[in-house]
Amino acid sequence: MDAQESCSARNHTWIAEAIRRLRADANRSADTHLHVFPLPQEWEIQLYLKDESVHPTGSLKHRLARSLFLYGIANGWITETTPVIEASSGSTAVSEAYFAQLLGLRFIAVMPKSTSPEKIELVERYGGECHFTEIPLEIYNEAKRLAEELDGHYMDQFTYAERATDWRGNNNIAESIFEQMLCEPHPIPEWIVVGAGTGGTSATIGRYLRYNRYLTKLAVVDPENSSYYPSWATGATDYTTGMPSRIEGIGRPRVEPSFIPTVIDLMLDVPDAASVAAMRHLERSTGLKAGGSTGTNMWGVWRLIAQMRKTGAKGSIVTLICDGGERYPHTYYDDGWLRQNNLDIAPYEKTIERFLETGSWEAPAN
Ligand SMILES: Cc1ncc(COP(=O)(O)O)c(C=O)c1O
Repeated sequence: MDAQESCSARNHTWIAEAIRRLRADANRSADTHLHVFPLPQEWEIQLYLKDESVHPTGSLKHRLARSLFLYGIANGWITETTPVIEASSGSTAVSEAYFAQLLGLRFIAVMPKSTSPEKIELVERYGGECHFTEIPLEIYNEAKRLAEELDGHYMDQFTYAERATDWRGNNNIAESIFEQMLCEPHPIPEWIVVGAGTGGTSATIGRYLRYNRYLTKLAVVDPENSSYYPSWATGATDYTTGMPSRIEGIGRPRVEPSFIPTVIDLMLDVPDAASVAAMRHLERSTGLKAGGSTGTNMWGVWRLIAQMRKTGAKGSIVTLICDGGERYPHTYYDDGWLRQNNLDIAPYEKTIERFLETGSWEAPAN
């Protein structure tokens, strides 16, 4: 066997072991829970929360990170000596650091200098390195530059999220939801409500619904300053706001490649104060402590349930708990941070509480 043959033989051995480890990790992980949020029985509407915060790395990005590594290895882009680089200050970097450690690979997260110490600590806990840029929007080019310099692989979640995730099944998030709904009064939900960061989650769910011929509609919520809602509403696929979102994980200054507007039935723009209000209300009413993007989902859910009540529709609605609230002690759970950001959540909290007491929806005046 010549040098080249032994090199590719060694490479195939590494690939086989890497895939085994990724599959073993999936096999060791139980599926994430589907909680019931209790609503007044006479409404005949059931609300379910898919809790992605219980993944080993604490967010819905655990699924994406595993898919991106499988996709990179299967494509031959990642081998046993490839440094892996990602442009992310959030959940994705944490989950990718975990899988890089599992595979014995170097991982570098390129993130803005302003990233929260909690997120930096989480990436470093899994052996990841954090590489900072002064300007938030520079993270993409810097990640690309670093990958070239180190002969590494730029994971690029914003481009590959929609491609790396199997939308037909393979235990994707949609398949898991429908399996867990099987014994419920309305197993086929009226709505599934999610947010969009890369757009990968909404693309996967939207495609899965169509592929399985479900009449379930997909609603995507969007925070302030994001380009997704105005892009979807106007059809301008290159819409840019150039501004960062205050709700971590969702909302983008530009329309990302993995955002597939054509699988979305409805988009809802959600004020940031409403997101935080709904997030805090969730904790008060269920004890489930989640992050800001879950609050955005919940506000969207309340608006849709109000709509269903108005039209007399019965049925079920599903949304996601995207990550845990323990990651946000210095922002969404800090009244000082709310004041600094001029976010008055009281009117939105009142709207939710009054709605659950009386069934009538009175949105706060703008
Ligand atoms: C906390 C949180 N919520 C929601 C999302 C949105 O998911 P997606 O990127 O699949 O659109 C993200 C994505 O990073 C996230 O970190």
